[in-house]
Amino acid sequence: MFNEQMLAERTQHMGSSAIREILKVLSRPGIVSLAGGMPAPEAFPMEKMNALCELVLQKHGTAALQYGTTEGFFPLKEALAGYLKENKIETAPENINITTGSQGVLDALGKILITPGDAIAVEAPTYLGALQAFNPYGPRYVQMETDEDGLIPESMEAVIKAHRPKMVYLVPTFQNPTGRTVPLERRQRIAAIAQATDTLIIEDDPYGQLRYRGEFVTPIAAMAPEHVVYCGSFSKVFAPGLRVGFYIAPQLVEEWLVRAKQGVDLHTSSFSQALAAEFVAGGYLKEHLPKIIELYRPKQEAMLTAMDEFFPQSFTWSQPEGGMFIWAEGPPGMDALKLYDEAINNQVAFVPGRYFYTEEGAGSNTLRLNFTMVDEATIRAAIERLATAMKKFV
Ligand SMILES: Cc1ncc(COP(=O)(O)O)c(C=O)c1O
Repeated sequence: MFNEQMLAERTQHMGSSAIREILKVLSRPGIVSLAGGMPAPEAFPMEKMNALCELVLQKHGTAALQYGTTEGFFPLKEALAGYLKENKIETAPENINITTGSQGVLDALGKILITPGDAIAVEAPTYLGALQAFNPYGPRYVQMETDEDGLIPESMEAVIKAHRPKMVYLVPTFQNPTGRTVPLERRQRIAAIAQATDTLIIEDDPYGQLRYRGEFVTPIAAMAPEHVVYCGSFSKVFAPGLRVGFYIAPQLVEEWLVRAKQGVDLHTSSFSQALAAEFVAGGYLKEHLPKIIELYRPKQEAMLTAMDEFFPQSFTWSQPEGGMFIWAEGPPGMDALKLYDEAINNQVAFVPGRYFYTEEGAGSNTLRLNFTMVDEATIRAAIERLATAMKKFV
């Protein structure tokens, strides 16, 4: 019978369940969770779904239910070319590939690029799901320094020179977990370093459209397309359950990513892709996005205002202009796991920041807070209760 000795070597890299263990308490009644990373269900365009489904069946008929090409449903690729152009990325529909969530391309990148022991450069902190995607392939992570403006280009350059990473994984806009955005000048510098050192950058951008203040910042992919894999997603602007993501990659990388996907799922759901195609092409996205922004902006403001009012002086936090998260840092030496226990006693949960670092011991005094799932009054009350817990650690 099955036993764990039978697991492949790569399976054993699939990581610990420490974070799942600590988040188990979320199901306890009365706990307000600021730990999540999900869009609010009210952000889904429910009132449009019947019309969209009908339109898909009318317009695409059996093609919406048939097998399709691995590269993706062509009407969606066409719609995306127009959408990306508005975001300063100019490319032909043929160069856009559809994936099962943007998570799908992260796994494929790991599969085609990582030989056990290869260096992968990541921000400190970085998106946990990317680490989960890459881990089975056995990489060696190298952390790059960040500050309130996200990745520090000089740190990236030093890491590239010292470790020659197979890829540099970045979330430059409204990062998960910090909410921070890399400003334009830094992006230009990052693009120039990628070109000068011939390094592959992964620009993961699921949050770019969720901007509540400030100005759009051009993606790095627009500055160095031959060195960047740009990953996008419908999860935060339409519905994550549809599992539709997309990417643009330098040609050779693209060819191998397509082959890798073919062996995994042949293609992404045709029906989901057709829905996404009509959501963009029919102007639904343009109409719906402002509603999502108007839903999240006051939630984010409620959280920032309450943090200003209640958090102890010894804590600092990010001031994101969009996205779904705020990142807080306690005094040096504070253990956010201990704070977590105290916060749970006060009926509030968050994610201790250590899980977003690849180096043991890093980020032990940090925490990630999510504001999309809870209403403003509850956010305020939860932040006040979290601040009460914090006062034991100042
Ligand atoms: C930075 C980042 N990348 C990728 C994903 C995966 O998104 P999806 O697979 O739903 O497109 C997420 C989800 O939270 C994320 O935060």
